[in-house]
Amino acid sequence: MNRDKRRTVIAGNWKMNKTPREAFALVSEIAAAARGKDKCDVVLCVPFVDIPAAVAAAEGTNVAIGAQNVHFKESGAYTGEISAAMLVECGVKYVIVGHSERRQYFGETDETVRLRAKAAIDAGLTAIICVGEVIGQRQSGITNEVVSMQTKLALEGLTKEELSRVIIAYEPVWAIGTGLTATPEQAEEVCALIRRVIADLYDQEAADALTIQYGGSMNEKNAAELLAMENVDGGLIGGASLKPASFAAIIDAANA
Ligand code: 13P
Repeated sequence: MNRDKRRTVIAGNWKMNKTPREAFALVSEIAAAARGKDKCDVVLCVPFVDIPAAVAAAEGTNVAIGAQNVHFKESGAYTGEISAAMLVECGVKYVIVGHSERRQYFGETDETVRLRAKAAIDAGLTAIICVGEVIGQRQSGITNEVVSMQTKLALEGLTKEELSRVIIAYEPVWAIGTGLTATPEQAEEVCALIRRVIADLYDQEAADALTIQYGGSMNEKNAAELLAMENVDGGLIGGASLKPASFAAIIDAANA
């Protein structure tokens, strides 16, 4: 991380876990632990139905609430989808877009990722756009190509000003939920690559200001060494964000 140039953002992705009642309790506990830890931004991306409870629990704290997806149309016949305006009215500030589980299980494509990110930004949300290679791509030596292509396609058409409402999360798919974490060097290599892609697309100033997170089995044990990397500006955390002590320790590592 480089706190002089950009915000460090520690975000939890709860995935399909916790009922509204449980969400209220967990957000309250994490918010208590995050109190005064203002060297990083803390975000919890919760299931849609948990949002009102999570927002209520986070009120007056330094925890912001995020969603895990958003549709790109403003309204209409899209059964099961949620619009950006709905999220904004509920008090949501961030939304994850293009998570590998959405790409893998729900047919999300680079094009829908781009559309969803744009809709989120237009509504005033910050889009946490996920990119990352699967294991076969890493073994074939095409990680850089895959990640740069996903990044470029997701950002296509966004202005530099709109880019200020973007966080990129580098999540190698083989590290998600597997307990297998990228080494700090592997994470740094790809996060630095993403920053070079941004510098090429926009300019160095925009690249320097962009928060780039690492995600994939990040926990209280490995957070400090990952965050010590110049280009790793935070984490997108799954499993460990459901454990208050673990998540609090990651927030501490980002404040050290
Ligand atoms: P885990 O931290 O459980 O590996 O999940 C990472 C992730 O997918 C965050 O979006």
